[in-house]
Amino acid sequence: MTLAEIESLLDKSFAEARAALAGAANPAALEAARVQFLGQKGFLQAAKKSVGQLASVDDKKKAGKLCNDRDRELQDVYQANLDRLAREARVAELAQRQDITLPGRRSRRGHRHPLSTTCDDILAVLQGLGFEPAEGPEVEHDFYNFEALNIPRDHPARDMQDTFYVDAGGAEVVLRTHTSPVQARAMLAAGKPPLRVSCFGRVYRKDDDPTHSPMFHQIEGLYVDQNVTFADLKGTLQLFAERIFAPGVRVRLRPSFFPFTEPSVEVDISCFACGGTGRGGNVAAEDGRCRLCKATGFIEIMGAGMVDPEVFKACKLDPDHVTGFAFGIGVERVAMLRYGISDIRLLYENDERFLAQFP
Ligand code: PHE
Repeated sequence: MTLAEIESLLDKSFAEARAALAGAANPAALEAARVQFLGQKGFLQAAKKSVGQLASVDDKKKAGKLCNDRDRELQDVYQANLDRLAREARVAELAQRQDITLPGRRSRRGHRHPLSTTCDDILAVLQGLGFEPAEGPEVEHDFYNFEALNIPRDHPARDMQDTFYVDAGGAEVVLRTHTSPVQARAMLAAGKPPLRVSCFGRVYRKDDDPTHSPMFHQIEGLYVDQNVTFADLKGTLQLFAERIFAPGVRVRLRPSFFPFTEPSVEVDISCFACGGTGRGGNVAAEDGRCRLCKATGFIEIMGAGMVDPEVFKACKLDPDHVTGFAFGIGVERVAMLRYGISDIRLLYENDERFLAQFP
């Protein structure tokens, strides 16, 4: 072949080859076009073979360059189509698996547990009154849980709180039965008044029925200073009750006994369902009696009292110079009252049908 013949061969087949390589609509057609035009028996190979037979070096150069240029161009066209077909195949595959036009799935939004909300609310009210949150261990020394709180060994008051004892190789260790040990720790740590803390956390008692759980949560307030009086306690409880339950609820104090306070009281609030009348309201029975307060007009919500001098002594404070009050409230009980929950166990089962009611 002469140079001119090689050129004409390249020209003649080039357009056809490019159209076939660019236009192949599927991988099989593209492969067939590649074999036909770029393969061993294609026109490019034929042209390349002829180059070697040209007589003039100049012609060889020219023809060689022409062959290489055409070859590179067609390789590019081939590669571009190869990529395009791969992309299309991938898109088709994805489209088969999912309908991308469907609306997206919203992730569901969670919310706080009613117990957490109640706990936060109580702590926030106390914080507003100057009580700083404090925490202590749940596995507690007998000393902090009992002794320091004026509940010596063999004191019948130990029976008030049926205790889980922890086998600690001879050491006297319990699962704390209340959050009061935290107040003992706080007083010992502070060393001197004033002191205003809210102690919160889990507590444990051998109890298990619809209104008692072996584990529950308490929050305790402790205020120690000079000249803290029972009136301060009452005012604090009144504010607390109105903020947590409803404006206008009345507080009633009944004499009671706790080893760590003297005098001690049970704190009742006027029933917010029937307005303290014992009748009517939104949870009245058929005969009109309020079910929440069992027609008494009052609901018991916590224990409180003036810190017993013996507790001050055990906690290295001088009862001749300081006084203080303390109160302890069950968080579950507050949550159950506020939300009208009748079984404490609902608070721990994490049943979504239940939890979804407290957005
Ligand atoms: N610690 C008591 C209890 O768990 C509650 C309480 C705290 C009572 C502080 C009086 C003062 O029963």
